[in-house]
Amino acid sequence: MNVLVVGSGIAGLTAALHAREAGHAVTVVTKGALGDGSTGYAQGGVAGVYGAGDSAEQHAADTLAAGAGLSEEAAVEALVADGADRIAELIARGVAFDRDADGMLLLGREAAHSHARIVHAGGDATGAAISRALVAAVRRATIDVIEHAFVSDLIVSDGAVRGIRLLIRDSAGNATASELTADAVILATGGAGHLYAHTTNPVGTTGDGIAAALRAGAEVDDLEFVQFHPTILADNPAFLISEAVRGEGATLIDDDGRRFVFDSHPDGELAPRDVVSRAIARRAAAQGGPVRLDAAMLGAATLAARFPTIDRVTRERGFDWSTDPIPVTPAAHYLMGGVVTDLHGRSTIPGLFAVGEVARTGVHGANRLASNSLLEGAVFGARAAAALGAPWPGSPTLGSRESTDPAPASVEYRDGSEVPDFSRAALQQLMWSDVGLLRTSEGLRNALDTVQAWRLAAPAPRTVGEHEDANLLLLAEATASAALARTGSVGAHYRLTDAEARTAAPILETV
Ligand code: SIN
Repeated sequence: MNVLVVGSGIAGLTAALHAREAGHAVTVVTKGALGDGSTGYAQGGVAGVYGAGDSAEQHAADTLAAGAGLSEEAAVEALVADGADRIAELIARGVAFDRDADGMLLLGREAAHSHARIVHAGGDATGAAISRALVAAVRRATIDVIEHAFVSDLIVSDGAVRGIRLLIRDSAGNATASELTADAVILATGGAGHLYAHTTNPVGTTGDGIAAALRAGAEVDDLEFVQFHPTILADNPAFLISEAVRGEGATLIDDDGRRFVFDSHPDGELAPRDVVSRAIARRAAAQGGPVRLDAAMLGAATLAARFPTIDRVTRERGFDWSTDPIPVTPAAHYLMGGVVTDLHGRSTIPGLFAVGEVARTGVHGANRLASNSLLEGAVFGARAAAALGAPWPGSPTLGSRESTDPAPASVEYRDGSEVPDFSRAALQQLMWSDVGLLRTSEGLRNALDTVQAWRLAAPAPRTVGEHEDANLLLLAEATASAALARTGSVGAHYRLTDAEARTAAPILETV
């Protein structure tokens, strides 16, 4: 088969390598350079079952508990069943996970895991090590690579995906429109962190794959479940302080030096991510400034050896975390929802696969367990490649919809009041305040109305930046609608009651 893989993180490159090794003709199309994207930024590691007394069943149970009852058991079982093989494959492809003097894998601890089970490389540079190894493997394989190519749309005809439309940028930044046809398209374009004013995601994470799939008529779900990582250095630009730091014993303290997260959960700093993020946001709002992460008890030598990247970057930014607690704040980190797939990455449109963060496999439910994202990318990237050429499952109606343009037909904007001017920054600020960590009916309604008004007024996109803006607007609309429709709180989606909303302090801008 002729296979197009869109995206070059762990999910896309794993799918590409497996597809090539199975004899398919493979082209990888990527928006930046090969390996750019979120994978290279991952610090903590990959969840794996290696510890004494640990088991795949316990990893599955932790994943299901973090997902707050909305994960799908079959997807979680597939994740933990294939996990060990995929980690072994990464090792075989050259990822040097950290080991002790006896050669045993060192295992980190992260929130909501019942066991230490996070394999890591270079201390806190796991994603970079994985990305380097996979990029090298793709370069060695007979896989075509098209870099700096923005996928503007999927080509759908007769109810199936037939290829992609793209804008290829030259070194002067000029973009040329082009089309590529294929028997199968594997979307691996990552999430949409740049919907928000504060995010750990690299520039370019603008939800392009999910938006293209939506326009093509694929089913997309769970967009209201946006994970906010609790501990980003409260500084500009955003910089992640891995959960593994808390796993090693660092604590979160308020201005009085009190470990306030215990007020919200008995596991304190190692409670599920959504709980810790909300506790931080509320405490910061109440005290009028960021809370702090105290890692000084780990000592300068341990911090430098175990977390060399964080140690270097915080020092470059003027913080000495071996002596003083550092200011931290939550930021948008990971999208649990996305293109709905089965256990083999197959979407509801024949020929269209989705793997990694762009997909909604059912693994994460309402809240992803730490370090399951790289694992999911590897597991479902391989599973999608293995399903290439197999009959497409599903009801006969799936994928039979023609491409749609879901732009709103008309909008009543707040009784005729003036719509604020659109800019990407204005959209990101709106999403941060109204579709963020703590949501109210009024805020969600305001976000939806504003985004719909912006969408109506937006000109047809021509440049890559304009296409990205259109994608962000489409996803913002879908996210705000999904959040409005889910009236209860679950996992990362947290709705304040009207009474709470009246007294809640607004989320503080601590960056
Ligand atoms: C981290 O290192 O805290 C991020 C890991 C993840 O998002 O799973």
